[in-house]
Amino acid sequence: MDTAPNLTPILGRYFLREWSHGEGHRLYDTSGKAYLDFANGIAVTALGHGHPKVNAAIHAQVDRIVGPINAVGFAEPVSRLAGELAATLPDPLDSVLFLNSGSEAIDAALKLCRRVTGRPGIIAFRGGFHGRTFGATSVTTSSLNYRTGYDPLLPGVHIAPYPVAYPDFDGDEEAASAAALAGLRALFESVIPPTSVGSIVVEPVLGEGGYNPAPASFLRELRALCDAHGILLIADEVQTGIGRTGRMWGFEHAGIVPDVVCVAKAIANGLPLAALVSSRSLQDRWGKSAHGSTFGGNPVACAAGLAVLEVIREERLVENAAARGAELRAGLGRIAAEDDRVGDVRGPGLMVGVELVRSRDGREPDGDLADRVMAACAAAGLLVLLCGRQHQVVRWIPPLNVTAAEIAEGVEIFGESLASMSRD
Ligand SMILES: Cc1ncc(COP(=O)(O)O)c(C=O)c1O
Repeated sequence: MDTAPNLTPILGRYFLREWSHGEGHRLYDTSGKAYLDFANGIAVTALGHGHPKVNAAIHAQVDRIVGPINAVGFAEPVSRLAGELAATLPDPLDSVLFLNSGSEAIDAALKLCRRVTGRPGIIAFRGGFHGRTFGATSVTTSSLNYRTGYDPLLPGVHIAPYPVAYPDFDGDEEAASAAALAGLRALFESVIPPTSVGSIVVEPVLGEGGYNPAPASFLRELRALCDAHGILLIADEVQTGIGRTGRMWGFEHAGIVPDVVCVAKAIANGLPLAALVSSRSLQDRWGKSAHGSTFGGNPVACAAGLAVLEVIREERLVENAAARGAELRAGLGRIAAEDDRVGDVRGPGLMVGVELVRSRDGREPDGDLADRVMAACAAAGLLVLLCGRQHQVVRWIPPLNVTAAEIAEGVEIFGESLASMSRD
C-alpha cells in the first residue's frame, strides 16, 4: 500500500511504517505499537523524542523570534550558541558559521579551504559519506548510486583508502592504518603533489560506510602530513559529534585538533541546524561574504541547541555514552561468542556496528541476513539501522541518555531476532 502517493519515491527508507509520535526513547506507529528507538533519525534525536528542556526552549523561542535574522544583525540564542559550541572545542576552534545541514557544512568547509589555501586539491576517503549537495557528493564514495549520473562532479577530488580494519585486515587496526597511509603517500607521489592539496576531509568513524573507527595512529599521521604540507584538515563530525562516541568529538580519541569541524545532526535534537567551526583567523582569511546562508542559525534551532548542550553537560551524557556503549558492546560480544554469523562488533561509545557475515572464517558480508535481522528487530519493537557497502552492518545509535535497562532490552531483542534466522 502506498501511504504517501505524492511524496517522492527517491528517498531511501529503512521502514515503511507511518509514525504517529515519539516519547522519550520510544517511537509509536499509527497503530499504537511502541518501538525502542535506537535509530534516532540516523543520530539526530540524541536526547530522545520530546525532551522537556529542549521542547521548553523551542516553545519559548517561537514566541520571541523565529527568524531568519542573519542579514539584519544578531539574535541572542544564535550568538550564545556559537560561544557554547566553541567552548566544547579545543583552541583555536572558536569561530562558528551556522548552516542548516551536514551537506552544507561540508560544502562550506571545502570552499573555505580552497579560498584560503589557493589550492584546488581535495582528498577524501573511500567509503566516506559527506552528504548530497554537489560538493558533498563529490567527496562521497560510500555508494556508487550516490554519484552515478552526476558527472562531472567537483574537479580536484582524489580518493584515498580509509583504514578499514575488519574485514580487510582481520581486525588489525595498525595494519589497516599503515596500509591506508601508504595509499595516501602513493597518491602524493604519483597523482597530486601535496603542495596542490588544500584540504583533507575525514570522518573519525566511517558512518554510512560501515561504522569503522579510524585508528588514532591514522588520524595523528593525517594531522602530521597536513602540518608538513600546509593542508587544512576537515573533521566531518556530523554523525560522530556531540558526544556520540563517548567523547564530545570523535577526533578527541586521537588527541588531534582539526582545522575545520563540521557539525550537524544531533546539535539541535531534530531541528535543522549545522555548523562549521574553525579558528577566527581562518574565517578572517576566508573573507566577508565569501559564503552565506538565509536560514543558517535559525534562532529556534539555536535555542534547541543551547538546551541540548546544557542537558549533555548537566546529565553527564558524554560519560553515559561511554558507559552504556561498553555495556552494548559487551552484550553484543556475548551474542557473537554464540553465533559465528557475527563477524565483528566495533565502534566507540554509542556508535556501534555489528558486521554480519556468512561465517566468521570466510568473513563474506551478509547483507541479506542483516536486512532480515533489522526487519525482525522492528517487528519485535526495536529500531536499528544498517550501513556498509553491502548493508551488512547493523548500526546501533541509541540516544545519549539511554539507560542500562534499555541497552539490555535492545541486545535481547537483537539476539533473539538473529537466533530466529535460519542458516541457508
Ligand atoms: C558523516 C556525515 N556527513 C555528512 C552528512 C550529511 O548531512 P545532511 O544529511 O544533514 O546533509 C551525513 C548524513 O548522514 C553524515 O553522516
